[in-house]
Amino acid sequence: NWTMVNIAEETIDAVRAQVGDRRVICALSGGVDSAVAGALVQRAVGDQLTCVFVDHGLLRKGEAEQVEKDFVAATGVNLHVVDATDRFLSALEGVTDPEDKRKIIGREFIRVFEVAAREIVGESAEPVEFLVQGTLYPDVVESGGGTGTANIKSHHNVGGLPDDLRFQLVEPLRTLFKDEVRALGEQLGLPAEIVWRHPFPGPGLAIRIIGAVSRDRLDVLRDADAIAREELSRAGLDRDVWQFPVVLLADVRSVGVQGDGRTYGHPVVLRPVTSEDAMTADWARLPFEVLQKISTRITNEVADVTRVVVDITSKPPGTIEWE
Ligand code: XMP
Repeated sequence: NWTMVNIAEETIDAVRAQVGDRRVICALSGGVDSAVAGALVQRAVGDQLTCVFVDHGLLRKGEAEQVEKDFVAATGVNLHVVDATDRFLSALEGVTDPEDKRKIIGREFIRVFEVAAREIVGESAEPVEFLVQGTLYPDVVESGGGTGTANIKSHHNVGGLPDDLRFQLVEPLRTLFKDEVRALGEQLGLPAEIVWRHPFPGPGLAIRIIGAVSRDRLDVLRDADAIAREELSRAGLDRDVWQFPVVLLADVRSVGVQGDGRTYGHPVVLRPVTSEDAMTADWARLPFEVLQKISTRITNEVADVTRVVVDITSKPPGTIEWE
């Protein structure tokens, strides 16, 4: 696609002009925007870029590996991985309020990122002066169009860094819409699983467990979620839904008969939605056969899940996520 080739080339030139021979860091989240932004900057300035991936332990099955293996294989980027799972899970222990979960995750993220950034800054001969942000055009418009550090998205908001660790922003996707970012990602040779990933909240699975977050609960949700995603994509419907949250009602129990016995586990909620921009959404009318397959597989394969229900609330009045 010629347009995308031109956009890629122009953006790469612009990044080179901005950065010169100085160094850059980029926080990867596992999502499309930071991946495409990182890949573009890598093309522009190569080894001057170091990407940081803070694994908070709240991603879905296979997603950390996608960043650590597939993204690195596709781009050749220098990647600094921090496995901060223990730290995030201890900080979240016993916390049930959604906004408390968000605040804790945001705070821990900044702290972990700060330590990683200091290590990278400290080990480099050239100063690290730039930070990549995957800001898109709609984010710019929504926040009033200013440049600088104001318009950074909620959880991956690394604008909360201390004063002695300030960076200028590199925002190579500032003029683009999501579909253009995806086309660019394909153009740059990124894996389809990353380019076509549905939007996913920064706080991850923590806000899809209704109740306190624990390792066991995360494992249950990850298994159920992986089945739902697998069946959606087998049915060829990934690109027809905007997002497909799977939610674990960890504090609700429900009786089931599984195998030869009575069980007393938890329900999961399927929340497939269609949307243009996440501001409004409708529940996706997935074919019954697909829903049936997902339900049968989850209740057979995931011990502890006795029941699968489908959320048929539009937004408004419901939100996409349950928390
Ligand atoms: P709601 O649930 O408000 O979600 O309809 C709208 C969109 O935002 C995502 N979302 C978040 N993204 N941090 C994020 O980065 C968050 O705390 C957060 N909460 C919701 C949600 O997945 C949907 O795309």
